[in-house]
Amino acid sequence: YWFVDKTVENLQSYPQLVEAAQLLKEKQAVAFPTETVYGLGADATSDEAVDKIYKAKGRPSDNPLIVHIADEVQLEMLAEEIPDMVRALIKAFWPGPLTLILKVKKGKLSQKVTAGLDTVGIRMPAHPVALALIRLAGFPIAAPSANRSGKPSPTTAGHVRRDLDGKIAGIVDGGETGVGVESTVLDCTADTPVILRPGGITKEQLEEVIGEVQLDPGLENENVARPKAPGMKYTHYAPNAPVYLVDGGVPFMQRLIDERRENGENVGAVVTEETAGEIRADTVAVCGRRSSLETVAHHLYDSLRSFDDQDVDVIFCETFPRKGIGQAIMNRLEKAAGHRLISENPSGR
Ligand code: TXA
Ligand code: MG
Repeated sequence: YWFVDKTVENLQSYPQLVEAAQLLKEKQAVAFPTETVYGLGADATSDEAVDKIYKAKGRPSDNPLIVHIADEVQLEMLAEEIPDMVRALIKAFWPGPLTLILKVKKGKLSQKVTAGLDTVGIRMPAHPVALALIRLAGFPIAAPSANRSGKPSPTTAGHVRRDLDGKIAGIVDGGETGVGVESTVLDCTADTPVILRPGGITKEQLEEVIGEVQLDPGLENENVARPKAPGMKYTHYAPNAPVYLVDGGVPFMQRLIDERRENGENVGAVVTEETAGEIRADTVAVCGRRSSLETVAHHLYDSLRSFDDQDVDVIFCETFPRKGIGQAIMNRLEKAAGHRLISENPSGR
């Protein structure tokens, strides 16, 4: 567990980072900060190293990993072809929270990284500690988010420790991450690129650079479950207590909370600064300002995780407009809630 001040000059000669890179060279798994969330990194060219990631996370081995690189030479090494459209995206958004799915060059990466697919997700993180670590290691680093599978992604080293202590070789602590939700995953192998996971770079931002971008249809059609419907498929990003998304005003949310409390349940609420003063619950987590959805993204996972220290039976959470970073926020919240949505006006708007 090493603390590294990301504002220090010459990070590559920082002894703690040199030590972390040494562990990576020895094929160990080490957690490190990025601008989105903490990643659990290992040598992307080594089966033995990548195996350690899947084991520590309890991650199904058919879910491929993102490869983190520090320069475009590494990109040329890993990608079979780099279309002009992709070059334009890289120019605009790298380093940054955008993962590009490209055709993989054979024989360079561990097969376990791509989970047998002929594509690979690559990104260049915009975090000085992450970049310094990749450079020191000298190879591309495979890294999923550094949480136990199913939990919210970690935005502090403390979150990583809570999930993975004793299971990994070390944690590089670079303080709180910035964006707070993961990178946007963009499939660039089709004629029209498709967002597979909304994230730190918005659809609107992408379209400004390359024109039309599609949203994976699976992302939009799932948000229609009825209250109390059992979680569809599987819950992700989830605290221990069940989460319900509430689409309605403050009095509606308060009524839902009060009904549960009258039943003797302990109720948690995830609210914004704008409504925090009006909501009464047993535990209230404030997740940023509605007037600035970037602040909500930044605080989201910490808010969800905060209930795991509290004795709550159920969590009600505000919903957000699906514009800009709101798309990523709602995607994560729907997964955390297993698609349980309670609408004040269910018949439509
Ligand atoms: O911000 C982030 O992306 C963080 C930090 C650590 O970089 N990483 C992250 O990794 O969120 P992970 O493993 O938790 O999520 C990677 C996502 C998964 O949904 C995975 O299925 C998808 O990217 N993915 C990876 N490779 C893919 C591929 N070749 N084709 C389609 N999807 C892929
Ligand atoms: Mg993840």
